[in-house]
Amino acid sequence: MSRRRYFFLLSGIYETLPRAELKAVLEVLDPDYRLIEESSRIVVAETFEKVAREVVYRTAYTKLVGEFLLKCKTDENAILKSVKNIDPEELAGSEIKSIAVRGIRLNGVKLRKLELEASIGEHILNTLPRLRVDLEKPDLTIIFISEPELTFIGKLLEVKPKHFFDERVAGKRPFSLPSTMQPDFSRAMVNLARVGIGGRILDPFAGACGIMIEALLLGYEVYGVELKDWIALGGLKNLKRYVHGREFMIVGDARKPMFREKLFNAIVTDPPYGRSTTIPDRSIKNLLTEFFEVAVELLVNQGKIVLAIPSELDLSDLIAGSGLRIRESHLARVHKSLTRRVVVLES
Ligand SMILES: C[S@@+](CC[C@H](N)C(=O)[O-])C[C@H]1O[C@@H](n2cnc3c(N)ncnc32)[C@H](O)[C@@H]1O
Repeated sequence: MSRRRYFFLLSGIYETLPRAELKAVLEVLDPDYRLIEESSRIVVAETFEKVAREVVYRTAYTKLVGEFLLKCKTDENAILKSVKNIDPEELAGSEIKSIAVRGIRLNGVKLRKLELEASIGEHILNTLPRLRVDLEKPDLTIIFISEPELTFIGKLLEVKPKHFFDERVAGKRPFSLPSTMQPDFSRAMVNLARVGIGGRILDPFAGACGIMIEALLLGYEVYGVELKDWIALGGLKNLKRYVHGREFMIVGDARKPMFREKLFNAIVTDPPYGRSTTIPDRSIKNLLTEFFEVAVELLVNQGKIVLAIPSELDLSDLIAGSGLRIRESHLARVHKSLTRRVVVLES
């Protein structure tokens, strides 16, 4: 099995988080993967096909993956000419009986999508007359994704199913808190922790367990701590619903050590920050400073802490002297009055 080039289409919901998540997952599944190029919504990387396909299901914000064939200027003639230069047998091997062509335009690209899809399809059928068009269930979909400057062309491999997170969105869980985090955001945070499959993760401010559920579904061993027993019981209900049999929830205070040293590969959490969650005493700053002291002891060397905090909170003072450093940071506008910052700290 050898590495090939694949292109990934990212969700446009946040500016940097989807790309960072994708790269983190590639790092975990194939540490020697090679990043070829990246733009705001497209990443091209060299990896194994199995990894490229799996990435679409592990990430929250990667919409699809295709095997990369070529890129060209975003211009109808240039795209058609490039497709004509592809060796027809490379395009569709003998096992392929039916094809479809699909185009995606990003960031206001104006080209005539339907016409271009039809022209590409016509060209392929002309050069490989044994093929037929099947828009419902083709053996192969040729896809072009056009950004204002460049168009990427390839063979579509996987698309994230439309309702991937629907079953677990906050309103549908048996127990919900106003502060609950949605499953896609929770999953992206877990992925940023770059924990190898089977590793151990802690959420010390577990709440309704949104983060824990995604981490468990990704195959990690996960422990949760929650200060309030009624919330811990609610969280437990959610865990039982989605990941039955793997629920480890402790009622306790995240600032008090309760695990042995170096037990966790990562801590992924969404600490309370005023608004709808209660901060037990003083301010979030004091809470976090005390928590970091405990957290550093719990992590393996180079273990990560992935935190969601209000965008205006500056962590640099709080981690001074803790042995932690900020590895990356992403802004995510949740709604008009809430922008979160996701920070990855490394010990
Ligand atoms: C923002 S919520 C977490 C939401 C969670 N990510 C979810 O998806 O539901 C923060 C939680 O931390 C809990 N909490 C506050 N102080 C704590 C402490 N010192 N130790 C443990 N949990 C605490 C709160 O009761 C609240 O449920």
